[in-house]
Amino acid sequence: MLRRLHHDQPESFAFTPANKAWAEAQITKYPEGRQASAIIPLLWRAQEQEGWLTRPAIEAVADMLGMAYIRALEVASFYFMFQLQPVGSVAHIQVCGTLSCMICGAENLIAVCKDKIAANAHELSADGKFSWEEVECLGSCANAPMAQIGKDYYEDLTAEKLAWIIDELAAGRVPTPGPQNGRYAAEPLKGLTSLTAHESGRTQFNASVQLATDIGDTVKRIDGTEVPLLTPWLGKTSKKPAAKKPAAKKAAPKAAAKGAEPKAEKKPAAKKPAAKKTAPKAKKAETK
Ligand code: FES
Repeated sequence: MLRRLHHDQPESFAFTPANKAWAEAQITKYPEGRQASAIIPLLWRAQEQEGWLTRPAIEAVADMLGMAYIRALEVASFYFMFQLQPVGSVAHIQVCGTLSCMICGAENLIAVCKDKIAANAHELSADGKFSWEEVECLGSCANAPMAQIGKDYYEDLTAEKLAWIIDELAAGRVPTPGPQNGRYAAEPLKGLTSLTAHESGRTQFNASVQLATDIGDTVKRIDGTEVPLLTPWLGKTSKKPAAKKPAAKKAAPKAAAKGAEPKAEKKPAAKKPAAKKTAPKAKKAETK
């Protein structure tokens, strides 16, 4: 798929103060001269802030990292996780269209997106709230068909379930992500058949759904309030590590000295090859 910058671009981009502080902290994670390594997290945060990756945002990130614009653009246009066109203000729905999901009904999910959102992928719905696209395998094949909405996975979907989820999101509610057919995770639909001891004492939802539920908003974009900014190395005077003594050079073996007769290396006793079995006489006689 051809990935190009959107024809309609905003005039400018600037990180919010919280995102700017976060971005500057990320850059300090890399050694001098390697700041470009921070490009993916910074582009991602710019996308989280705006919803999609604009040209001014790509250039602003490139400026922060001392990179040529074209190099930042190469990264942004290479990775499909970067949205180069506006996405729905509520959610961008990524329907997996790879093998397992396709066999289990991904086409029905795509039909729902076409019907409820827009006829074409990457097109905004009439109210601007939603957009959708088909993506490659999202690694949840045992729960096919599935879609990623915001930060979380909605699995074991049916067309009716996806339509309901879109309606809920449009109404400002966030349905619980994870399996939508009553499964806890990826166990058999009729329940665990092994490791049944693990059923007791578990949380209400599987780990990733539990986390999503605890955080409380699957479709909210990251804005820096989720976790504290941890850069304990900032403001500390860097203690130079004691110079390491170079390891003493091993004296060259005498044999290597100029003119000296190389001493025959003590070779491990050669293994005697296993005695060849003499062909049974009877066979010899046969070949005659
Ligand atoms: S095929 Fe859809 S998640 Fe793997």
